[in-house]
Amino acid sequence: MKYLFLAVIFLFNLSSSIAQNNPYGASDAQDQPTLKAILPFPIGVAVGIRHFRNNPVYRNLVKEQFNSITAENVMKFKALHPSEHTFTFKSADEIVAFAQENNMRVHGHTLIWSKVNPPWVKEFKGDKTAWKNLLKNHIQTIVKHFKGKVRSWDVVNEAYNDGGKLKESIWLEKIGPEYIELAFRYAHEADPDALLFYNDYGHEYLGKRIYAIINMAKDFKKRGVPIHGLGMQMHIPLRLEDTKIRRSIEMAASTGLLVHLSEVEISVKHQMPKVFRMDDQLARQQADKYKALFKAYSSIPKSQQFGITTWNLGDADSFRNSKGPNHDHPMMFDRQYRPKPAFKAVIEAWKSNKGQ
Ligand code: XIL
Repeated sequence: MKYLFLAVIFLFNLSSSIAQNNPYGASDAQDQPTLKAILPFPIGVAVGIRHFRNNPVYRNLVKEQFNSITAENVMKFKALHPSEHTFTFKSADEIVAFAQENNMRVHGHTLIWSKVNPPWVKEFKGDKTAWKNLLKNHIQTIVKHFKGKVRSWDVVNEAYNDGGKLKESIWLEKIGPEYIELAFRYAHEADPDALLFYNDYGHEYLGKRIYAIINMAKDFKKRGVPIHGLGMQMHIPLRLEDTKIRRSIEMAASTGLLVHLSEVEISVKHQMPKVFRMDDQLARQQADKYKALFKAYSSIPKSQQFGITTWNLGDADSFRNSKGPNHDHPMMFDRQYRPKPAFKAVIEAWKSNKGQ
């Protein structure tokens, strides 16, 4: 009797873990399309190292649904280069190995940023040449380490402010505005086959930032600075108009460069009263917004579609949830990694409209 009881418990746990792994539930698992099977462009996810290491449900969903991967944090400056003469690749290498085992593309994020610089960089003393050497050594050691394994890099992240001017940054202060193009040149020297992106947020507000980025991209192309793509983070609120999304993606595509929607999530909580409840209507609106975003993206030339990457996986994993008492619900999967209406809307849109 005791064994029968244990067997029942075991089977129950097994089936619920299968159900959690499979976004359709255990019953209709067979023949259901996945994001990576149905979308005509690469679909990526940023992974947080803790769940990636410890949660098999998370890992399985990542490999089942996605064919591109970004490290949410472990390829940032502080993680890879914590002291002047130390590089720590262990966590990033784990993600790369997982990607290779599962035929996933790796997108590297991010070589240079005004944020996440370790204390040793802030304390570094040297003239402009010494700073350029620091920049070069940092970029080239990392890019060479991952050569042939990391397909593409966010070379510089978030360099422009809302006013379209260069943001305050240690790189700007010590090297000057040319730090951006130097970063691209150094990265290209280290791996001429890697695709190099400039990544930023807020294009979709059609303010001065997007114009500054486009001017920079055109100037780089004209002068032969090796840039291959623009990353548009797309941390967007539910209320953002579809027309703005579409226009910003078209503007980025007008440069002729690859376009990557690189950090997508759609915040429901943003602009809501302090206390709000997620409900079916909001979930449907969010599904429509995901669909509109994916459709807008798929209307740019196919040769420029580098892919869409969501910024982590389930609602509980989103960095949008790190602050405040009320949970946001920004992702396509819920806190138990079950598919939300947003996931289903994207699948349905391509099921009925293959190849678009
Ligand atoms: C965020 C991560 O999601 C958080 O876990 C971390 O604490 C801070 O950074 N723009 C970027 C990303 O380019 O690197 C940021 O990621 C989110 C905003």
